[in-house]
Amino acid sequence: MKRTFAAVIGIAAVTAAVAACGSGKAPEGGGGGAGGATTLGFAQVGAESGWRTANTQSIKTAAQAAGIDLKFADANGEQEKQISAIRSFIQQGVDVIAFSPVVRTGWDAVLLEAKNSKIPVILTDRAIDTQEKDVYKTFIGADFVEEGKRAGTWVADQYAGAPGQVNIVQLEGTTGADPAIDRDTGFKQGISSNPNLRIVASQTGDFTRSGGKQVMEALLKSTPKIDVVFAQNDDMGLGAMEAIEAAGKVPGKDIKIVAVDATHDGMQALADGKFNYIVECNPLLGPKLMDLVKQVAAGEQVPARVVVPDEAFDQQQAIKALPGRQY
Ligand code: AHR
Repeated sequence: MKRTFAAVIGIAAVTAAVAACGSGKAPEGGGGGAGGATTLGFAQVGAESGWRTANTQSIKTAAQAAGIDLKFADANGEQEKQISAIRSFIQQGVDVIAFSPVVRTGWDAVLLEAKNSKIPVILTDRAIDTQEKDVYKTFIGADFVEEGKRAGTWVADQYAGAPGQVNIVQLEGTTGADPAIDRDTGFKQGISSNPNLRIVASQTGDFTRSGGKQVMEALLKSTPKIDVVFAQNDDMGLGAMEAIEAAGKVPGKDIKIVAVDATHDGMQALADGKFNYIVECNPLLGPKLMDLVKQVAAGEQVPARVVVPDEAFDQQQAIKALPGRQY
């Protein structure tokens, strides 16, 4: 009962926050934003990581630069809040809805509501599983399977020809989230070429630094020999790094750390030799997203999938790249 009440309050708060930063329904033949601008309702996952902060900033800056009236909602990592925010955008009659889904499943009902209201939807950063047809126009984001595979391939190459079992622990992102599922798949593909590599533990750290630290502290106690940490994002890797140091071991040497994202803090750890390899996941999706928003608002055809390319870095490459990084 208490839980239900709390959930209702949470949903109401998101609805109110979303309503407060936007105007009413779009007038006939034009956008509902200030001066007839296109209105975009964006439902963000939350603020769980450095990557997410950079992503949010990119979206806000790009919307302003493109003259798009942005109504922004932060779901604090909760799917119910994200659904509630999307419903609020539908009620307000925004021109376009975009969101980065907290998890992969459970979106059909709200997306059908958007479709019935003739509001085009763009998936940003993360994909969904759905049986429904035409409930979104396009998906812009990275290839998460490929990211995991690049990380796994690097580990396989590092230990090529080395004798004995190599123990890997994986710090997973949010359970059920697209990048957590796909990076796990890709990483396993990447390490499959080397039979000595073994994932001895795999637990969620929820894409947060504190989550990564907590899981790693427990794993360091329960697992006698850990050679490699594969952190599905930088923040969990940074948390693991702190736990390793607190346990009197040297991250990057006693235990190697491989991560995904290439945020500033992750790249600094790599440059300092505390991380060993990072596969980039570019959060600067804002400008491309705004192009797509304008296109779908104008009824133009867009590609079903827009893949954002990534790089990967070792220590020397990180040292070189760091000064010019934007996030
Ligand atoms: O969906 C992208 C992932 O979500 C990023 O890798 C991670 O840092 C974020 O929380």
